[in-house]
Amino acid sequence: MTNSAPSPSHGSDRVPRHVAVIMDGNGRWAADRELPRYEGHREGMKAVRETIEAAIAEGVEILTLFAFSTENWNRPEEEILALMSLLQIYAHSERDELVEQGVQVKVLGDLAPMDRDTLEAVRAVEEATRGGRQLRLNLMVSYSGRTELLNAVRSLAREAALGALDPDDILPRHLEQYLHTRDLPDPDLLIRTSGEFRISNFMLWQLAYTEIHISPVLWPDFTRGHFGEAIRDYQRRERRFGRVTAP
Ligand code: IPE
Ligand code: IPE
Ligand code: MG
Repeated sequence: MTNSAPSPSHGSDRVPRHVAVIMDGNGRWAADRELPRYEGHREGMKAVRETIEAAIAEGVEILTLFAFSTENWNRPEEEILALMSLLQIYAHSERDELVEQGVQVKVLGDLAPMDRDTLEAVRAVEEATRGGRQLRLNLMVSYSGRTELLNAVRSLAREAALGALDPDDILPRHLEQYLHTRDLPDPDLLIRTSGEFRISNFMLWQLAYTEIHISPVLWPDFTRGHFGEAIRDYQRRERRFGRVTAP
């Protein structure tokens, strides 16, 4: 949220409170080995585990992972089924470990097109990990930054049409209350793997002042060490928020 206090703006020991990750490169990892794309996604689960462990070790409070975009529904059906089945496997097989680690899982996105079994698995892991206090893990699934903003605008327009809100009084926090991230601070650091320099419709509002780290590593090869490198890179940045020097 724009109004919540940002993390300290510089200093080598400052830890990003909220780290977001665009986990990219599974297909290329598989293609390099002449394996089906599915194997890349499966291997990517290991990197998720590594990243959670690293985030906890570094003292990160919130980790937001982009797992599946709205646009990813346009992939071949076989790949979509494989990805949904992997999400179910992840939710079942990691549940006890996540509880032990104190991880609270939330799955955020437009879950309406999701099949019932996957939805149930997702709800079960959310329920089981509800008490986690060490790390909040947001899995962004069937997520689109533009759709999220459009839905927020629609909700505000509805309030205005009812006379409950004067359009001239609309503030960032009014819009933010309709975002999936309504109770979260904005990400301090965004990591994208596989060397792609783009946002791909991820958290368009929330990333306004986020520091960006592009890693050349394909997601299945991403380790705790790579996460540490991203944190060290972040710690060298001066966050100015439009000022002449850091606030
Ligand atoms: C990221 O890997 C996972 C998802 C988008 C679901 P990709 O599947 O996009 O892998 P590449 O980019 O084709 O290598
Ligand atoms: C972004 O990766 C979405 C996720 C990581 C879930 P994509 O592979 O779908 O994005 P583009 O197509 O390279 O922009
Ligand atoms: Mg990709």
